[in-house]
Amino acid sequence: MAQAIGVRPVSELIRWPTDDLSRIPLHIYGDPEIYAWEQDRIFRGPTWNFLSLECEIPKPNDYVLTKVGDTPVIVVRTAEGGINALVNRCTHKGSVLCYDSRGEGKRTFVCPYHAWSFDQSGELRGIAFEKGVGGLGGMPEGFDKSKHALTRLRVEVIEGLVFGTFSEATPPLEQYLGEPMVAHIRRTIRGRKMQIIGRYNHIMPNNWKLYIENSRDTHHPSLLHAFFATFKLNRLSAEGGIRHDPANWHHLVFAKRLTDQGHEEYSPGKLRTMKSDFGLNDPSLIAQWMEFDDNITNALQSIMPGFVLQQILNSVGTRQIITRGTGECELIWTVVSFEEDTPEQRAIRIKQSNLVGPHGYISMEDGAIGGFVQQGIKGDRDKQAVVEMGGLTADGQPTRATETSVRGFYKAYRELMGN
Ligand code: FES
Ligand SMILES: [Fe+2]
Repeated sequence: MAQAIGVRPVSELIRWPTDDLSRIPLHIYGDPEIYAWEQDRIFRGPTWNFLSLECEIPKPNDYVLTKVGDTPVIVVRTAEGGINALVNRCTHKGSVLCYDSRGEGKRTFVCPYHAWSFDQSGELRGIAFEKGVGGLGGMPEGFDKSKHALTRLRVEVIEGLVFGTFSEATPPLEQYLGEPMVAHIRRTIRGRKMQIIGRYNHIMPNNWKLYIENSRDTHHPSLLHAFFATFKLNRLSAEGGIRHDPANWHHLVFAKRLTDQGHEEYSPGKLRTMKSDFGLNDPSLIAQWMEFDDNITNALQSIMPGFVLQQILNSVGTRQIITRGTGECELIWTVVSFEEDTPEQRAIRIKQSNLVGPHGYISMEDGAIGGFVQQGIKGDRDKQAVVEMGGLTADGQPTRATETSVRGFYKAYRELMGN
């Protein structure tokens, strides 16, 4: 594992207020030394990170750029049809090799600075002026190109989702995910071929962990998102709950349709978000069909560290968090349809894309609330957040009135950070 250079040990940097998972020290959202350790121990550590969809690189020699934490990565479909992931950093002086976000016909990657060239496996194949010019200069006789390959990630694919890891210590992907998480990914994609119908990139004014917490925060939707509760799309009184992997690192929150028996908490006037006299002029915005036998209409699956598989009604897609320093992060949303969809189903999915993303009727508040927290905690970094709803542990629960999934993230975070 790489080591954060020039920073104090994690044990000196983070003091957890309690031994259980119910408190989060607020200084972890703004400390550059902690951020440096997160890059090494989490993103470049023993974790599987979402890289891209397989359908983004369908043909041999297609490539797409992504990031794992701060590290730029090239994902390339090789001439033989496999998928390689290479750090997008020239081993000469460190320039990025590739700067167009996607492309095709790429058999070699040639650095724009001094034209070192690398093949699809990351091997250094060519050096400009290697033999010098006119018998003068050039690289010394013993220079060994094989010692200067690009860093290559291990890659595994599940249901068209491409993951990569820097660490040899990371268990195989399915073992890392655990059986309940694998089952839900298979249930959501079902072997269908994806087609991208939309993508949103969203720069948020908050630390990356605050977005991850938000995506795992199962009791905020009907409180923060007026659209959800008002139009009865997702209320805690509907049947739902939290599933988790054996290690309690990854969590799935789900809710079912047609099971909302109502609850006095949702009486008109009781919650800010309840407006009983509101209706949609155009209900086609939330038109849906029952796509899954299990009646689940809302499911967010959070995979440590920064990946979310989303199903909101029929809006199926991925969310990928990219770190951008302590006080900013980027969220990349990709929404998909499937090759076998009818034109009507595809149209419904496209229309439902209005619900999510930075402008989404449901999720626009999520893009702001992390910034609210980042502002609120500025002067109080010695204080702590309280995440005690639903107990002190990170296991699965038959309710969404709980913060167990947020605690699960910090269980994994603490194990990875070694503190
Ligand atoms: S930095 Fe890439 S060839 Fe010099
Ligand atoms: Fe939300």
